[in-house]
Amino acid sequence: MEKIELTICLGSSCFSRGNKTTLRIIDDFLKEHNLKQHVHFRGNHCFGMCEDGPILKINDQVLKQVNGERAVKALKAHFKID
Ligand code: FES
Repeated sequence: MEKIELTICLGSSCFSRGNKTTLRIIDDFLKEHNLKQHVHFRGNHCFGMCEDGPILKINDQVLKQVNGERAVKALKAHFKID
């Protein structure tokens, strides 16, 4: 399986508006499903898209107004998990 790049915005706007929690939810999800070795998960500074935030990137795909639920849904779709 190809490793995906998962980048969460930890700029102050996204962080305080939800990515603080989303970060933890994603981390738990990856652990739970043993996906850590398939994902390069890292935080980034502001993407300059605060208005559309919180922002999460999966490879080149930008997810806007993300929350834990949407992030997990996108990851499940990517890894074909029900
Ligand atoms: S803080 Fe996330 S896009 Fe600016």
